[in-house]
Amino acid sequence: MKTVETIAELQAEIRAARAEGKRIGFVPTMGNLHEGHMILVDQASEECDYVVASIFINPLQFNDIDDLGRYPRTLAADQEHLRDRDCDLLFFPSVDEMYPHGQEAQTTVSVPVVSEGLCGDSRPGHFDGVATVVSKLFHMVQPDAAFFGEKDFQQLAVIRKMVGDLNLPFDVVGVPTCREENGLAMSSRNNYLTAEEKDNAGNIYRVLNEIRNKIENGAKDFAELCVLAKQELVTHGFQPDYIEVREANTLKPATEDDTDLVVLAAAILGKARLIDNLRVNLSK
Ligand code: PAF
Repeated sequence: MKTVETIAELQAEIRAARAEGKRIGFVPTMGNLHEGHMILVDQASEECDYVVASIFINPLQFNDIDDLGRYPRTLAADQEHLRDRDCDLLFFPSVDEMYPHGQEAQTTVSVPVVSEGLCGDSRPGHFDGVATVVSKLFHMVQPDAAFFGEKDFQQLAVIRKMVGDLNLPFDVVGVPTCREENGLAMSSRNNYLTAEEKDNAGNIYRVLNEIRNKIENGAKDFAELCVLAKQELVTHGFQPDYIEVREANTLKPATEDDTDLVVLAAAILGKARLIDNLRVNLSK
């Protein structure tokens, strides 16, 4: 696996792979790679002939400067993981390479409606930062398919909407969430948890499952289910941000008639803000 730091080198490598007729798969990341990222790489190498990953801690998507400062930077270990899993090329640009005219002067991409509410409310500007950097990376790489984790459900919805609205000619593939044994969704932010908090953090998945079971058994008062689940998280020491039931394709608040639902949660535990979600399919 080769690591390149400039857009010119990235594009030269991809041009050569494309000239050999290879299908290009792209996995954008912010590094600190764990098994959840690795299955994105696995899926990309299953579906494509040449896998490009990027590691860029994108300052535009951090609304909290301390959060940006402490985000784990683990390049050597990340390169090793990627090498082990058949990644062909790693793009590791600097902030200047990505935003040569400064972050304030950068043209931004904003995806309305689907970016609003949920994490969009608690992290103002976050999804504009995500859409902007992902759109720049897409233009640089011009992949045939791009791979994202379903754990960041709203992010995936924002990216799918952007790709559709801007008529970008490739597939966006959502890959199921990778979980620890207690159900905790894998995330770079789990590194902020103590061992005891990690055990406790499995409660998010547990309350999401409880909501799913109740909905599958006919419960229709989604707001009440969410209030009860939040109370339960509070008793376990969490500060819940939101728990909501939404229509899975539009992310609009779910109605009684919707059959494809997603229950989404965000909660703070210790130093970590954790997010997770579960799909509920009532059409079966
Ligand atoms: O999910 C992430 O790691 C980031 O939000 C992404 C998609 C790489 C954009 O910076």
